[in-house]
Amino acid sequence: MRKLLFFLIGIVLLGTAACSESKETNQIEDRVESLLSRMTLEEKIGQMNQLNGRNPDEKLMSRIRNGEVGSLLNIEQPELINEIQRIALEESRLGIPLLIARDVIHGYKTIFPIPLGQAASFNPSIVGTGARVAAREATQDGIRWTFAPMMDISRDPRWGRIAESFGEDTYLTTKLSSAMIRGFQGNDLKNPSSMAACAKHFIGYGAVEGGKDYNSTYIPPRQLRNVYLPPFKAAVEEGVATIMTSFNSNDGIPPSGDPWLLTGILRDEWKFDGVVVSDWASVKEMIAHGFAENGKEAALKAVNAGLDMEMVSECYFTNIKDLINEGKVSEKTIDDAVRNILRLKLRLGLFDNPYISEEDPRVAYSKEHLDAAKMAAEESMVLLKNEDQTLPISSVVKTICVVGPLADAPHDQMGTWVFDGEKEKTITPLKALRQLYGDKVNIIYEPTLKYSRDKDRSKFSKTLAAARKSDVVIAFVGEESILSGEAHSLADLNLRGAQLELISALSEAGTPLVTVVMAGRPLTIGTEVELSKSVIYAWHPGTMGGPAIADILFGKTVPSGKLPVTFPKMVGQIPVFYNHNSTGRPARGTEVLIDDIPLEARQSSLGNTSYYLDAGFDPLFHFGYGLSYTSFEYSDLNLSNSSFHPSDTLRVSVQLSNTGDFQGTEIVQLYTADKSASVVRPVKELKGFQRVLVQPGETKDVVFHLPMSELSFWNDGDVVEAGEFSIMVGGNSQEGLFSDFSIIN
Ligand code: BGC
Repeated sequence: MRKLLFFLIGIVLLGTAACSESKETNQIEDRVESLLSRMTLEEKIGQMNQLNGRNPDEKLMSRIRNGEVGSLLNIEQPELINEIQRIALEESRLGIPLLIARDVIHGYKTIFPIPLGQAASFNPSIVGTGARVAAREATQDGIRWTFAPMMDISRDPRWGRIAESFGEDTYLTTKLSSAMIRGFQGNDLKNPSSMAACAKHFIGYGAVEGGKDYNSTYIPPRQLRNVYLPPFKAAVEEGVATIMTSFNSNDGIPPSGDPWLLTGILRDEWKFDGVVVSDWASVKEMIAHGFAENGKEAALKAVNAGLDMEMVSECYFTNIKDLINEGKVSEKTIDDAVRNILRLKLRLGLFDNPYISEEDPRVAYSKEHLDAAKMAAEESMVLLKNEDQTLPISSVVKTICVVGPLADAPHDQMGTWVFDGEKEKTITPLKALRQLYGDKVNIIYEPTLKYSRDKDRSKFSKTLAAARKSDVVIAFVGEESILSGEAHSLADLNLRGAQLELISALSEAGTPLVTVVMAGRPLTIGTEVELSKSVIYAWHPGTMGGPAIADILFGKTVPSGKLPVTFPKMVGQIPVFYNHNSTGRPARGTEVLIDDIPLEARQSSLGNTSYYLDAGFDPLFHFGYGLSYTSFEYSDLNLSNSSFHPSDTLRVSVQLSNTGDFQGTEIVQLYTADKSASVVRPVKELKGFQRVLVQPGETKDVVFHLPMSELSFWNDGDVVEAGEFSIMVGGNSQEGLFSDFSIIN
């Protein structure tokens, strides 16, 4: 009886919530229509215009008064934003508030690890918390719209923006970017600490040819649907407020002028009712692409494609009125775009609550935020090698020698896309080691190289003398933050400057060498890994990277990160990613490599499979790889059945035992492979992951529920095909327990 009562109360509450939600939606739509009916064409075009607010002058203010601006990016001082907002509200004819936007990518003041680092945590909750922290800090300064998450699938580490991505995998990217959206937007956009998120870059920008930024992409429809679009579709389902078009042209069409993408897929198929914004001048850049003759044609193509707001290049502002007068653009098209923009402003509560409180106690760098950033940094780090259990540093160690250009580089460890984080607040590894462990060990510091590109070897001998006197050497190498990020592509992924020479020299000093790499992308560090006893990949770990690393080095924290992207041995292997399509002649692992080829070998004697004579088939490190201080064993993989209907859910269980001496978290990964289908499918695909904490000696039952709908793919429509599948559960993309099942119709 009580159960029934609770059930009925639940139904009533749900019904009331749904009812008040739809009432609010109706109110918003009514307000949109009422405003729209009072707007002149010029005012409508003004709403579609986003301008750069950096160094605002009187001219900008007067344009705001005239209703010529809908949004500003790149301002962040609360007093200034309040003043500009006052002008929009009190001095423009209709008093429409401005949308204030900024790139808050992996933190605002408190900087979290770069997104690629966060992805190594395989932890949506860490990513969501990072976004929540950023939203709390940024909204206090008046920023209500961020241009994140970047959900471009990135399979090319030459591309500098891989740092901003969640890596190479669609499933992982979808889960993490959805979590980031929830973090930024909170439960209700109206809440003053919520920010509108922006799913970017629509579409395919991560696939630029040769990894060179702004280059063209050629993604065929199936790959687009199966690999690149799913995170965006999930973002729309998650209620993402905005979407940004990308710089690349895909198969000859720049997305900013692509009606199939912006109207066909986004509006008609996915029913997106938020704002589509261009990337910085990407409308005007359609001229440089050779896709439009001039700004007028660029505006025509973009607006008719369904792009609502143009970022900074003002082709809309200059040309839309003429295009309407000439009958090339309909007023309905403009009304629809303006509706989307006004709807967002209303959803954000900007009309009712336009000003930020300048008095509220600031939350930036609060202890809670710093603790969250530290936890994110800890979970982002990947232990790549740990020979002789060199890590954690044992209690018999008396002296450690800290070396390298990234040991005390507060600016660089924050990574790319940091406009507001202050390096003075960053805690570097050197500082953290001294603060947290300085009373336990003697710390010698020899930077040796001033920055990652430094080639000056003059300090080597002094460093080697210090290394010889120490019990452990910890070398912090990698790349400065400026070497990754937008427009910062590289053709060579080796460590720069004299860093490899430094690692080589240190490896000969006779003292165990631990190498910590801080970088914005996978680097080709095969030699450095060979020369070191232990290697930690720390990415650019942000404000609290130092304490996170120090606690990992000393074993207070056990590393748990796994690679969200494949690490190539050499650049020539790129693109190299785990979920490539099956080929007709897969490598067998027994291929002859270059040094073993007999003289005058016969043309077909080497095996004729898909591999490189010099690099072989395997990368340096596989997707999903990462070690712990403890060890894990998998056993007893069990499937709830051996055949399933497309609407069924498969239950998979596996036993995970901690067979080592530390408590540790294992990221258990579930992969499936479709053995034969109507089109060639990837060799395997990630379909589930869980972080599982296990005590030494403990065994846990890990259970996944895999709906068969997850195995659908696009082949002129979404299909779940009958046939044979294999499933693998394990600690990385290559090793695990296998089983088979089938789908029947
Ligand atoms: C980037 C976007 C960014 C925009 C605004 C562009 O150059 O591609 O990702 O949001 O600038 O700063």
